Amino acid sequence: METSPSTAPEGLEINGDRLLRRLTELSDIGAIEGTTGSSRLAFTDADQAGRDLVVTWMTELGLDVTVDGIGNVVGVWVPEAMTPEQATLPPVMTGSHIDTVRTGGRYDGNLGVLGGLEVIETLATAGVVPQRPLAVAFFSNEEGARFPPDMMGSLVYVGGLGLEQAHQTEGIDGSKVGDELARIGYLGPSPCPGQVPHAFVEVHIEQGPVLEEASVDIGAVESVQGISWTEITITGQSNHAGTTPMRLRHDPAFVAAEITTFVRRMVTELGHPQVGTVGMIELHPNLVNVVPASAKLTVDLRNTNNDVLIEAEERLAGCLERLAESEGVEISTRTLARFDPVIFDPEVVDLVELTAKRLGASTLRMPSGAGHDAQMLARVCPTAMIFTPSHKGISHNPAEHTDRHHLELGVNTLLGVMVGLAGS
Ligand code: GLV
Ligand code: MN
Ligand code: MN
Repeated sequence: METSPSTAPEGLEINGDRLLRRLTELSDIGAIEGTTGSSRLAFTDADQAGRDLVVTWMTELGLDVTVDGIGNVVGVWVPEAMTPEQATLPPVMTGSHIDTVRTGGRYDGNLGVLGGLEVIETLATAGVVPQRPLAVAFFSNEEGARFPPDMMGSLVYVGGLGLEQAHQTEGIDGSKVGDELARIGYLGPSPCPGQVPHAFVEVHIEQGPVLEEASVDIGAVESVQGISWTEITITGQSNHAGTTPMRLRHDPAFVAAEITTFVRRMVTELGHPQVGTVGMIELHPNLVNVVPASAKLTVDLRNTNNDVLIEAEERLAGCLERLAESEGVEISTRTLARFDPVIFDPEVVDLVELTAKRLGASTLRMPSGAGHDAQMLARVCPTAMIFTPSHKGISHNPAEHTDRHHLELGVNTLLGVMVGLAGS
């Protein structure tokens, strides 16, 4: 594909005050008291309020705003001065998500969406006319924390998951995606899969410690590691905690704990970059003097190397078999998400690196540890990502923080990359 690093008007910069103001206003919706973070799980009232605010900003900017059947919102900027031929070209798209985990920070996802708005507003104000439209999207339910899998909206957008199946997905609270979408007014008419963009680039906080530890300003993201999410249900024998001899126990809590320690030991043995997390454990009935009847837990395994990830999955399956046998419990599993590692387009990665360097930033080519909408868009068009440093590598936590300087640098890089991809 044709890219040019020199087409952003020399010296044109985004408005940092405006970017920060929008980030703050959005984070006020679902604000977690006493912190700078937010809680806007997908398709909740708080998500709806966040969506409404961003749609208002998109509309004020004069974007053509559409909502599709999974609630993805796309705003397309077609400058008036564009020729009719240019106006019909597939856009260069940016974007991310505005849903959060229950205990989210203010930058995860939001930076990519509001950064995209900021790029368009900067160009429009400066009278720059790119050679094709630019679009900014926010994709539904990127986090997958309420309704697995993660990246659901972008997965549907690229045709990787059918709309009907997505609508039927049951959440951790028993609700369904389709019902919740309709309830918040975001079951839109635009078709899925959506229009294939000319190219896609997403700016996102790193959410890990790599850039800060290396004192590097901008990450040029080359790949995203593979993701494997499994829900494990253990059914045992509920009984009296005082009277049941240990030899007669079939204890789901014990098995859940064994699985948790197994995951840590296995991951340590497999070594970097394998990671593994037990993020959710529920016991039933969860009482002090009752051997539980059942336990439900989730295991999140990730690796940039798919072979090692498969080995980790197989070892986990072996562990479950052994535990079911030795403790006399039933164990069933359900795959909540499974995505292979993704390699981004080397030319777009080069463009990110070159653009950031031209802005005076130090750069590092690196993989992403977190899942992102860009990994789904990479299925259909040339794609890459821009990372900004995360303070102490903390994310999925209200304490998530990125310095203003780096937020601005990331969005200025986005500006240069989008203009470069579009030509001007
Ligand atoms: C989603 O953002 C994830 O990486 O868990
Ligand atoms: Mn994110
Ligand atoms: Mn996230």
